[in-house]
Amino acid sequence: MTQSYQHIVVTGATSGIGRQLALDYAEKGFRVTGLGRDQEALSKLSESGIGTAQVDVTNPDEVKAFFEQVDEVDLLILVAGNCIYMDALNYKSDVVQKMLDVNVMGISHCIEHALPLLKVSKGHIVGVGSASAYAPLPRAEGYGASKACIHYLLRTLAISLKPAGIKVTMVAPGFVDTPLTRKNDFPMPFEVSVEAASNYIRRGIERGSTEIEFPLPLILSVKSIGLLPTKLISAIWHRIYDPSKREN
Ligand SMILES: NC(=O)c1ccc[n+]([C@@H]2O[C@H](COP(=O)([O-])OP(=O)(O)OC[C@H]3O[C@@H](n4cnc5c(N)ncnc54)[C@H](OP(=O)(O)O)[C@@H]3O)[C@@H](O)[C@H]2O)c1
Repeated sequence: MTQSYQHIVVTGATSGIGRQLALDYAEKGFRVTGLGRDQEALSKLSESGIGTAQVDVTNPDEVKAFFEQVDEVDLLILVAGNCIYMDALNYKSDVVQKMLDVNVMGISHCIEHALPLLKVSKGHIVGVGSASAYAPLPRAEGYGASKACIHYLLRTLAISLKPAGIKVTMVAPGFVDTPLTRKNDFPMPFEVSVEAASNYIRRGIERGSTEIEFPLPLILSVKSIGLLPTKLISAIWHRIYDPSKREN
């Protein structure tokens, strides 16, 4: 790793992708602060020389208080998020609200309150979206909508914050083996390990990429499906997943 950072802040550092990123950067000797709500997991993280703070990203006051006491940040990696699937025939606005609160507003609160520090450092914001944003996936109505929202937010910020010298990167992972995906009851093609995900993300950050998407076969497949008319995607989907419509 050739780049040097004074202070890397990672949200969602108590589990999965965020935790691996925090550990990997700390192992390279960077000053890292990891955020999360789970105090036990934060204590474990601090044993690896990582600074920690208990912050619920959906709470703007907690996010503000955290960044107000930070001296500097030049790499802000926003990983905190959640995935709740829904049964569309039993539609619940509450699920959509939860997805927007943690995935979209969580990122938004962090950007708002870290921005004064990032303007000074001419830093780099990295936010995690999802490959699910590239095509409509039944059950992911709320989750996918929140991730599509993040993609738009980050890609637009990459343009609007450029004159201030602030870089913005959107990360779109396919399936990564974490506690979040271990709950899934469906096949997860091209799934990668959390270590591989951290490598993809850190390499992309080092290159200054505005989009980090991985793994390629999954991204190409989902993006290609996303280009089809919804009617055709629906026909494919129901053929695959509705046993009553299959021939034998
Ligand atoms: N795994 C995948 O296949 C995959 C694919 C595409 C995108 N992603 C995205 O990658 C991100 C990380 O996913 P993961 O798989 O690593 O999940 P994970 O293992 O469940 O980790 C989620 C992290 O988010 C934190 N978090 C959740 N709600 C929070 C809140 N309100 N305030 C603060 N922190 C909160 C959790 O910390 P606490 O519980 O301590 O608060 C935890 O550290 C998510 O945004 C997810 O959508 C994952």
